[in-house]
Amino acid sequence: MEIKTVGVVGAGQMGHGIAHVMLRAGHKVVLLDTTENFVDAGAKRIAKGLARDVEKARITAEGCEQALASLKTTTEAADLAAADFVIEAVTEKFNVKAGVFRTLEPHCRPETIFASNTSSISITRLAAATQRPTKFVGLHFFNPVPVMKLVEVVPGLQTAPETVEQAIALAASAGKTPVRVNDFPGFVSNRVLMPMINEAVFCLMEGVADAQGIDSVMKLGMNHPMGPLELADLIGLDVCLDILKVLYESLRDPKYGPCPLLEKMVAAGWLGHKTGRGFYEYAEKKA
Ligand code: 3HC
Repeated sequence: MEIKTVGVVGAGQMGHGIAHVMLRAGHKVVLLDTTENFVDAGAKRIAKGLARDVEKARITAEGCEQALASLKTTTEAADLAAADFVIEAVTEKFNVKAGVFRTLEPHCRPETIFASNTSSISITRLAAATQRPTKFVGLHFFNPVPVMKLVEVVPGLQTAPETVEQAIALAASAGKTPVRVNDFPGFVSNRVLMPMINEAVFCLMEGVADAQGIDSVMKLGMNHPMGPLELADLIGLDVCLDILKVLYESLRDPKYGPCPLLEKMVAAGWLGHKTGRGFYEYAEKKA
């Protein structure tokens, strides 16, 4: 099956980025969220990103116009009937994600593939919550989506081989490098990344160094492009906490237990870039 129209559910940080790269690759996109405000904000960020692609000669002005004309935004699940492949990128909670798929199911064609951009939740379990477990797959993009090359492709226990092939082809069509990873909590990326971020928060809490010191060590000593605390601010401290909880609860190993300082910061609403304050302050967002 040729994938012409991609449905993206969730117009936030990951969803709008996924829609952007799909449009840039020449697909039609239907972008769904719960309110007009959310979809409009997502569409604005996509338009800004595509304009930047023209400036940087990644696409032509004509390609940009075509991409913008290929975007449909909606708050109606029924509009996803047009989609050949649906990628969900909503809050990292099992019930919210499963609820999205249950809502979409009656509107989507039986052959349409469902994918989740979950960072850590079991694909096998999400697939089992739908009527199409063989046509369900994990497609895990990285933030910022237009820049990061990797997509983890995660088959659940029930996923058909053809579904995996279609997911790999779609990710490749968007200029990404798909890497197939088995369905274990956090896959490879967050199983390795989140304990590092968590340990950096423990270092901060215990006064091993201040935030800048910790980040400098990892940037200058390990050549990481961002320090772990800067990266946590980019990802969102709430997202990091949710992922650590999934790792902790599903692998039943205390080494994944979230640092109390991380929990406290999330409770205070200090979530990173998106709220203007995390381990650092972001004047632009505050203003
Ligand atoms: N959103 C969108 N685009 C961004 C961006 C953002 N937050 N930050 C930077 N960019 C773009 C810039 O606009 C620029 O694009 P251009 O080619 O159009 O000029 C390009 O990225 C490079 O940016 P800069 O030259 O300003 O900055 P850097 O060279 O320092 O790169 C970075 C910025 C790409 C964010 C780099 O610091 C980096 O790679 N950081 C690590 C990011 C990372 O690890 N992401 C994975 C997070 S984990 C995840 O997403 C999984 C989830 O499950 C938690």
